[in-house]
Amino acid sequence: MTRGLALLVLLLPAAAFGGHELENRDLRNGQKLYAEHCASCHGAKLEGQPDWRKPGPDGVFPAPPHDATGHTWHHDNRLLFDYTKLGGDALFAARGIRGPKSGMQGFADVLSDDGIWDILAYIRSTWPERVKEVQAARNPPHSR
Ligand code: HEC
Repeated sequence: MTRGLALLVLLLPAAAFGGHELENRDLRNGQKLYAEHCASCHGAKLEGQPDWRKPGPDGVFPAPPHDATGHTWHHDNRLLFDYTKLGGDALFAARGIRGPKSGMQGFADVLSDDGIWDILAYIRSTWPERVKEVQAARNPPHSR
């Protein structure tokens, strides 16, 4: 098998899933918006807050990293988008889950949908290829 073909075969499963919202995004805009709106909690280098796995005394979790050491890549695009747009509390409520109180506000009033997708694409662009593939495979097939 040629290398090109091997690569194609490798990429096919991911392409069959709907990871396309994060394709062809404005990564520079995403990086700028990330620095303005997300870095204060999630870290300038996407490193998250210290001890992010442990809830504080009020039960609220610190902000997790968005780099490959966190769990952002465990989630499909839609969840990441909704989490950012609606915030944790509203997202849990919408999905009928009683989660812990969320430290993550919604950005619906601050960011456009495209802005949110740009930020998520920027976050994704920092992950190793393998992690990108695993995350892409979490997206259920969909046309838009
Ligand atoms: C005021 C602090 C704060 C800011 C600012 C903030 N977040 Fe969060 N974020 C959190 C916390 C805390 C959590 C952990 C879960 C929870 O408490 O709901 C979280 C969780 C998340 C999650 C889900 C968890 C995961 O797996 O990654 C996403 C996605 C996310 N934030 C994206 C963003 C984006 C994008 C921005 C900027 C537009 C942003 N956050 C700005 C505090 C913040």
